[in-house]
Amino acid sequence: MKVAVVEGDGIGPEVIPVARRVLEAIRPDFEFFPVEVGYGKWARTGCACDADDIAALKSADTILFGAITTPPDPDYLSILLRIRHELDLYANVRPVRGEGFDILIIRENTEGLYSGIEWREEDRACTVRVITVKGSRRIARFAAERAQRREGHLTIGNKANVLKSDVLFREICIEEATDAGVKWDAAFIDALTLDVLMHPAQYDVIVTTNLFGDILSDAAGYLVGGLGLLPSANIGDRHALFEPVHGSAPDIAGTDRANPIAAVRSSAMLLDYAGDREGAVRIETAIRDVLARGIRTPDMGGRAGTRTFGDALWQALQAQKQP
Ligand code: IPM
Ligand code: MG
Repeated sequence: MKVAVVEGDGIGPEVIPVARRVLEAIRPDFEFFPVEVGYGKWARTGCACDADDIAALKSADTILFGAITTPPDPDYLSILLRIRHELDLYANVRPVRGEGFDILIIRENTEGLYSGIEWREEDRACTVRVITVKGSRRIARFAAERAQRREGHLTIGNKANVLKSDVLFREICIEEATDAGVKWDAAFIDALTLDVLMHPAQYDVIVTTNLFGDILSDAAGYLVGGLGLLPSANIGDRHALFEPVHGSAPDIAGTDRANPIAAVRSSAMLLDYAGDREGAVRIETAIRDVLARGIRTPDMGGRAGTRTFGDALWQALQAQKQP
């Protein structure tokens, strides 16, 4: 398995080495190679991500991705969005698990309000929300399959009471859920967001459009104690990229205070994608063991630094190997 590693900017270069070391401990057979994209590269070379970088990412079996700071250039397109488009990573999978709840948010990752079709006029600016049959069908099918595998339920987050584009999205999701024999319901995204926070145990798989999924997944961070804990997978038919839900957090970068759990859990999702379910479980177990010992980063009320937490995690993995 060839893994491209993009540390990125801000806290990316602090949390990704922890995640990579965990992966290396479990899978010494994996081959890692670095790809540099982002603000740092832009500041140095004037280009944040070139065609060679995209080719390098495409040459990997999987990508472990940190976070990227957007350069202060009005014409600049988010590198992450460009990568999602160029690699056609259409399903953004964001699990939110805690005491008594296990939610899988499936966010459409290539269209909706992130269509990139936008322009500025003198007295207004427009962004076109594009929902296609093809885009909706593949994400709906992906989500319905996940719900089927979990013998669960699919909730279709939408705003079809206002948006014609979501009438289409909802229709197609219902078709796919019905075809897959999955129990489903549809809910308006505003009320749904509140209800997920109030009654998380009632939810299983939630499928929604791009921006709604972006907002819902950050809001759901409230359930687990913050964004420092939430991993994600960006999956397409040919490529897959794993990244923490959080951004580059420049305010705490370089202070050894970032929580590496989101990045480490993303590497567990990478293992799961690679078919190594056992490895993924080992990572979750190691995280649980370290937290149970009271080792926590400041966002979780502790005093451990990113590196200390990473060392403890690595030791917990080694300890698992002893009979
Ligand atoms: C996310 C982020 C990105 C998004 C940004 C950084 C472009 O918020 O992955 O949730 O909006 O998708
Ligand atoms: Mg976001």
